[in-house]
Amino acid sequence: MKNDNSILRQWHKPAAALLLLAAALLPNSLHAQAAINELSVAVDKPGAVIQPTMYGIFFEDINFGADGGLYAELIKNRSFEFENPFSGWVSFGNVTVQTKDPAFPRNPHYARLSYTGQITGTGLDNEGFRGIAIVKGEKYDLSFYARTSNNKGKSENDTVRVELINQGNNIFYTEKIGVNSAKWTKYTLSIAADGSCSKARLRLWLETPGTIDMDHVSLFPQKTFNNDPNGLRPDLAQALKDLHPGVFRFPGGCIVEGTTRATRYQWKNTVGPVENRPTNINRWNYTFPYKKFPDYYQSYGLGFYEYFRLAEEIGAEPLPVLNCGLSCQFENDPDTKENCAVKDLQPYIQDALDLIEFANGPVTSKWGKLRSDMGHPDPFHLKLLSVGNEQWSKLYIERLEPFVKAIRAKYPDIRIIGGAGPYSDGEEFDYLWPEMRRLQVNLVDEHFYKSPEWFLRNARRYDNYDRKGPKVFAGEYACHVEGQHNNFYSALCEAAFMTGFERNADVVNLCTYAPLFARIDAWQWRPDLIWFDNLRIAKTPNYYVQQLYGMNKGTRVLPLTANGQTLAGEEGIYATAALDEPTGDIIVKIANVNIQARRLSLTLDGLASGKHAGTLIRMNSTNLSLENTLDKPNEILPSTSEITTDGNKLGMTLPPLSFSVYRIKK
Ligand code: AHR
Repeated sequence: MKNDNSILRQWHKPAAALLLLAAALLPNSLHAQAAINELSVAVDKPGAVIQPTMYGIFFEDINFGADGGLYAELIKNRSFEFENPFSGWVSFGNVTVQTKDPAFPRNPHYARLSYTGQITGTGLDNEGFRGIAIVKGEKYDLSFYARTSNNKGKSENDTVRVELINQGNNIFYTEKIGVNSAKWTKYTLSIAADGSCSKARLRLWLETPGTIDMDHVSLFPQKTFNNDPNGLRPDLAQALKDLHPGVFRFPGGCIVEGTTRATRYQWKNTVGPVENRPTNINRWNYTFPYKKFPDYYQSYGLGFYEYFRLAEEIGAEPLPVLNCGLSCQFENDPDTKENCAVKDLQPYIQDALDLIEFANGPVTSKWGKLRSDMGHPDPFHLKLLSVGNEQWSKLYIERLEPFVKAIRAKYPDIRIIGGAGPYSDGEEFDYLWPEMRRLQVNLVDEHFYKSPEWFLRNARRYDNYDRKGPKVFAGEYACHVEGQHNNFYSALCEAAFMTGFERNADVVNLCTYAPLFARIDAWQWRPDLIWFDNLRIAKTPNYYVQQLYGMNKGTRVLPLTANGQTLAGEEGIYATAALDEPTGDIIVKIANVNIQARRLSLTLDGLASGKHAGTLIRMNSTNLSLENTLDKPNEILPSTSEITTDGNKLGMTLPPLSFSVYRIKK
């Protein structure tokens, strides 16, 4: 969880990066037995299966990834439930917060607007998430729940005037809604704005003498990903789909743990009608005191149903992570009351069993029925479940064990994921792995946020892992260059390191970069895969590396050697090969982290004679500090060209500092 954002310095020192790179390579270069000129791929000897789940994505509501990000809602604090109920709102005239007879018992606060007769009026302004993005030509659904206490009957409505205000404080949309019931009623308005504004405000005025109560004010774009109701921002969701992810891990990360029991992530609070999903503070509101975000809460509008639906829509296996009874161990002492005692763990375990029923159970079951009522009678086919995030010590094991027993007893086909803690090695890691073997979990979640040197030196990390024990889920990783920028340097190091995932696909079954999203004006942690603001998106070089792996994963590992040995940094070359059985394509991924070009001859042993066509997709730059930003999103992109083999030979010229994916037709 440690992310040293105190180093919030700009980093533009490519020369220094090159020196680091050279230093990182030195040991491998010295150990090379002979100059590497030729690579061989045994096309006729397919090895380990590469799991369809191999390259996935990890979503956490950090950096405003959910509310203000992927979740398309435009109103912040729509239910007046933040600690300051008017956070996100500016009230004027006579507006108070009430809790008596609320519309939604689990979100009990609401606003009461009373007419004052004064020229200043009574109303509320919402600022959205650092502004509300309105695009001309698009339609938006405004809704709120309200009741009038005027008791005047239907003929004498109260009136709410709806306005959209631009950055120049000019009104660019106005309309009226009548409120005529003394009972909580949903009022709606379809808005087609006559102008665009990336940082608009919504204003609601009470126009008539009287008093109304108002709650759950929502402004939702009609255009969402797949046009889903209560849906997602299309550009961000499409970017996820375009990664071709095999697995979708949610909802975190540290937010699963919470810093207290009360604030932990509880999936049951995130399903059912959105209006009644209780708001929770987001731990990234306060985790880094030097980067405090008092307005960071979870509305849970993007909840477990929506996560499962998204996984299905992007073709990824859903992988929920559940709290194991421990609050964040970084933030709490081992004997804290914020941990659930082992003897009291049953409700937590029941949550896990109920989640499996929610995802997979028949519509006649309690939780299967809820899924069906929410719009998905068919099961979500949940196969993977992770218990605990970054936990460690006996505290974790004594809690994980009863989860494993209960899940195995009721749902033996569910693959259970335990964790190896927050560190990639060391005392806790060494304690946890044997325990995972003893508990016979199916996969172990490893995390590493490390330097470029670490990534380059550890491409053989999995070469000597136990082949018979649990499989590896590299559940959170990212190369942290100085300043934590998403530059090409970090992406290249990840590409090189990931060759080791693929070469060891018999051990590594899943991997997910972390974190996924970051709002440019509200982030807590970087680097992150995708950056965005209200209207724009920037896919980092790291994104394109993930995408190249996701789109070119293949189904079986092919042996790739140079001088009879696998290649994991020798002379600065990292390589792996795979066969894609459905297409018959041979895929060779190769990173050259040298500052010189390399010419290599590739022999595809077992390839039929004749010329074979293919494609080469490549990312390269001698500017290691190159980044894609919101203003310049296309600074570094993969480029594609055609290639042809000469029989079973292919001459390869690898540019300096490059990652290449060769895809050759069999
Ligand atoms: O990815 C950011 C954080 O890093 C995650 O919440 C946590 O699991 C890890 O410490």
